[in-house]
Amino acid sequence: MSENKDKLWGGRFTEPTDAFVEAFTASVTFDRRLYRQDIAGSIAHATMLAHIGILSEEEKARIIEGLETIRAEIEEDRFDWSVAREDVHMNIEARLTELIGDAGKKLHTGRSRNDQVATDIRLYLRDEIDAINAEIRRLQRGLLDLAEREAATIMPGFTHLQVAQPVTFGHHVLAWFEMLDRDHQRLADCRRRVNVMPLGSAALAGTSYPLDRFMTAELLGFERPCRNSLDGVSDRDFAIEFNAAAALLMTHLSRMSEELVIWASAQFDFIDIPDRFCTGSSIMPQKKNPDVPELVRGKSGRVNGNLIALLTLMKSQPLAYNKDNQEDKEPLFDTVDTLRGSLRAFADMVPALQVKAGNMLAAARQGFATATDLADYLVRKGLPFRDAHEVVGKAVQHASEQGCDLADLPLETLQRFSDIIGEDVYDVLMLEGSVAARDHFGGTAPEQVRRQVEALRREYDL
Ligand code: ARG
Repeated sequence: MSENKDKLWGGRFTEPTDAFVEAFTASVTFDRRLYRQDIAGSIAHATMLAHIGILSEEEKARIIEGLETIRAEIEEDRFDWSVAREDVHMNIEARLTELIGDAGKKLHTGRSRNDQVATDIRLYLRDEIDAINAEIRRLQRGLLDLAEREAATIMPGFTHLQVAQPVTFGHHVLAWFEMLDRDHQRLADCRRRVNVMPLGSAALAGTSYPLDRFMTAELLGFERPCRNSLDGVSDRDFAIEFNAAAALLMTHLSRMSEELVIWASAQFDFIDIPDRFCTGSSIMPQKKNPDVPELVRGKSGRVNGNLIALLTLMKSQPLAYNKDNQEDKEPLFDTVDTLRGSLRAFADMVPALQVKAGNMLAAARQGFATATDLADYLVRKGLPFRDAHEVVGKAVQHASEQGCDLADLPLETLQRFSDIIGEDVYDVLMLEGSVAARDHFGGTAPEQVRRQVEALRREYDL
């Protein structure tokens, strides 16, 4: 049990905090991660307080110097974090007063931990979004390189995980690029709402000091101060929005992961994931497991969980700040860590993937992937599509019985199903012809993939 004289709010209390309650209500074990933002916020606040004449220039200078000393202490692991001091804010403020005396006690003028913490999280999340978006771009660059390298590599395209039509591997990879592109946009959009400053809202109602909130906002790089103090201290929409964007991003990574896991199996054998991204089995000596994609796939679960935790945390909360809000940090931090780790693993792994083009091609040869091309061929020769569909269905059944592909059937055999079939049919039955024919914007033709890669490189400077 600690003496209440240690507490910055101890004045009205007559007995010390219960030891368990002290630990139970403390957040310093996890919110100390916000020390940099907390110090930056305090420096800006002190600068503004001096500007409006509430602090002297000398007090301001001592406060800033003290905060910089504290930052160094923390970074050099010399800072004595105390659970009795509850959270990152009071740990830093109490240490400041230890270091510089009475001037330290003036820092909290016109401010509350409620607007302070909301400001800190926003500063933190703003930086994290920038780092995450940079990592998305790094992964996207790897995808463009891969797509370019494999622009003409033929693989089976799937629907229902059944061979549907041949596609190029480059085209498949560019589909991943698009998913990530939307994620990047969503995060950039979310950042606009993150970058609004609660500071000056004080506990909930604003403050009687003539604060210049626009000045503080500018010093901290915020777009503007929040318009309403009650909303400022209590709003956590930005955290929920971020987590929703993160959950969708993890969903995308989980889909890519699933494909990599399938492709790396002996049954598909489309790719090789280099050893450095895999681990073995302690009992089965032959195993090489695609751990990285599996783990990323699994980690999408915790990010979804964090989203639900944050939504539930905010549901039904009355205005304004409630202690509930302290629970926003751990899910948020976990989401950030999970996202950054997963993106990093993917951005490192993607350029190293080895594509087994021969196996992809062989797989595309099974499953009558060019059946639609044959139907389109018949339509071009004048047959209505539904009749063409029927003709091709019969030809497929026959080839299936023979255990061969459509392209392996001799011309006379094909002509038994429709006499308008000519020698030129083999151009469309060949996989190369099939993919090359899908030569429009957004299509799978190698030429389109190359053009798309080039356009994206230019647009995003990748
Ligand atoms: N540690 C608290 C949090 O994370 C800081 C704000 C506390 N405010 C209060 N009035 N108890 O939310």
